[in-house]
Amino acid sequence: MSEQPIILIELEQTKQKALSLLAEIQDEEPLQAWRREYLGKTSVVMSAFSSIGQQPKEFRPQVGQVANQVKQALEASLEERAKIVSETALTRKITGERVDVTLPGRQPNAGGLHPQTLVLRRIFTIFAEMGFQVYRSRDVESDEYNFELLNIPAHHPARDMWDTFHIDQPGVVLRTHTSPGQIRVMREQAPHPIRVILPGMCYRYEQISARSEIQFNQVEVLAIGKNITFGDMKGTLNGFVRRLFNADVRTRLRPSYFPFTEPSAEMDVECFVCAGKGCSVCKGSGWLEILGCGIVHPTVLKNGGYDPEVYSGFAAGMGPERISMLLHKIEDIRYFWGNDARFLEQF
Ligand code: PHE
Repeated sequence: MSEQPIILIELEQTKQKALSLLAEIQDEEPLQAWRREYLGKTSVVMSAFSSIGQQPKEFRPQVGQVANQVKQALEASLEERAKIVSETALTRKITGERVDVTLPGRQPNAGGLHPQTLVLRRIFTIFAEMGFQVYRSRDVESDEYNFELLNIPAHHPARDMWDTFHIDQPGVVLRTHTSPGQIRVMREQAPHPIRVILPGMCYRYEQISARSEIQFNQVEVLAIGKNITFGDMKGTLNGFVRRLFNADVRTRLRPSYFPFTEPSAEMDVECFVCAGKGCSVCKGSGWLEILGCGIVHPTVLKNGGYDPEVYSGFAAGMGPERISMLLHKIEDIRYFWGNDARFLEQF
């Protein structure tokens, strides 16, 4: 009779050690390491099975039996432990996410209005109080409305004033100014008197820089009726500018040229940074240009369906981005459409 094979003792010892270690395990990772160590290919139990052939004949059944029992015991305990480990993980997750109802509430991110929306609303309010309605005209225009009907024929040198975005369909452009809206309102309203402002995006094919963008807002002002004079225009625009900036800001009208107004002018306000003394904002002149204006040209009145012998009117066009830049001392027009929250949140 041979001696009892050493593997039987090893199996018993391994079982004791494995089970006591298993009882300590709390996490998934050490559990998998345990499985490799005690039930993997190179584990004592598995090598016991492959060693059966080398054992003394009379012990072979016993080695097989014991190895089997140990294997089953380890597997059963592993399964139980795995359950506990996954339950602990779940509890930990739940307690980690538990809502603490005593914490102060979070401030919701409510967003805000774009600086241009704010300035446009101010402009609308001031003109509304003077009896002007808001009229919306289209962004995509025909060459006819954007130029021809405004007294700017093809090849006229004045077209150089507006660098135009054309599309592949001939005669269709992105409006370069809000003035084509003048013709649209007139044709809709003739022969009734008109007092409207026309706000909206305009587009110009320009080099983008701190001073010029390829898209920007304009607000057009149009008044048509009987006996409307240059004085009415001056009074209306002065009233507007003083409400927008401050009640005693000085203004001046400088002669200018636009094909659709005659006479034409540009309105300056006294520089409110230096109070007219001359600084970097007004480039030493003491004045800031804020809009173009004039008496509606007889040809334009006719194109809109009004008899220039009976009716007259004035028109003006301003850039609200420029007005914002002056109001808030913004140095670069690119901020407006750059979508940088750090800029937008300041308003
Ligand atoms: N449309 C002109 C521009 O874009 C501005 C303007 C409007 C001038 C109305 C006079 C009258 O420069």
